[in-house]
Amino acid sequence: MPDQRTDHKKKPRILSGMRPTGRLHLGNLVGALQNWVELQSRYESYHCVVDWHMLTTDYANTADLQDNIWQMTTDWLAAGLDPVKAAFFVQSHVIEHAELHLILSMLTPLGWLERVPTYKEALENIKDRDIHTYGFLGYPVLQAADILIYKADAVPVGEDQVPHIELTREIARKFNNLYSAVFPEPQTLLTPTPRLPGTDGRKMSKSYNNAIYLSDPPDAVWKKVSTMVTDPARKRRYDPGNPDICPVFDLHKVFSEQPVIDRVNRECRTAEIGCIDCKKLMVEGLNRRLAPIQERRRQYEEEPEKVWRILDEGTERARQVAQATMTEVREAVGLARKQEVAVGQT
Ligand code: TRP
Ligand code: SF4
Repeated sequence: MPDQRTDHKKKPRILSGMRPTGRLHLGNLVGALQNWVELQSRYESYHCVVDWHMLTTDYANTADLQDNIWQMTTDWLAAGLDPVKAAFFVQSHVIEHAELHLILSMLTPLGWLERVPTYKEALENIKDRDIHTYGFLGYPVLQAADILIYKADAVPVGEDQVPHIELTREIARKFNNLYSAVFPEPQTLLTPTPRLPGTDGRKMSKSYNNAIYLSDPPDAVWKKVSTMVTDPARKRRYDPGNPDICPVFDLHKVFSEQPVIDRVNRECRTAEIGCIDCKKLMVEGLNRRLAPIQERRRQYEEEPEKVWRILDEGTERARQVAQATMTEVREAVGLARKQEVAVGQT
């Protein structure tokens, strides 16, 4: 067990969270996971499987939750997150998050939450589940608790999460002004996220049923890519195409080597290359990228308990930090006597 305090001085600390949706897809890889892997050597990293956040929208549908936690954590490991460098853990196993969420909810104005763009969008778009709940409105307060309880210096997130980190800073500021300066204000570490389309050309997403998964074997990948939409104007083999509007080309830009990208960019416009051959080239690069990920995944599939053990070890590391922060928080708020006073009186 490394000394958290001296450790913290050496490396800045990051905290990130992901909802346990099950197996991860290419969008999760290039939008978050790959970035976490790159950051894990430079930062003291905490990665949280946010199962309570999952409940805010899916409280009525929890049958697969444990399996989804296992699948997602296994993909983290498969993608190269190293449990020695980074602590990964399940949010609800560190119950201190819930206590801090409760305290922060007392001082968070309703207006701050009602204004959050992701909240307004969700109310408009999510029709198949009931999200008109107290818990869902508090989603960003729970996220603030996740971040602040580790006194994270920075939070690696995509564009859509920026308002949540800003809200976290506002909550930290209000707490610090009301009581005492317990929380540093975390910075946003913006993850560069190339737009990754799914097989239908819309953003890749599990709920659109257009995703290619990290664990898809080569034949499944080809089945999906072979029917993937291309430039709709390119109806026949000899019609010239426009890679700039083709989702297959977007995947080339992420998974192919530069000479292949340059070739496709040229030969598509002149109809020298056909879409089938173009897709075959893309899938070659993609499968090269997925092969080591799938090899690592197979090792964990043989020993599923290992994944749970890694989460338990991460939980222990996370809990040490969370408990120390909560001792400070209870004293600052006035829920506990100050440590020195308590010692003097007994
Ligand atoms: N809201 C984040 C998302 O949907 C998930 C999340 C929960 C998170 N807690 C967090 C992200 C803390 C970063 C830090 O992607
Ligand atoms: Fe898209 Fe490739 Fe077909 Fe051009 S050749 S339209 S880039 S799939």
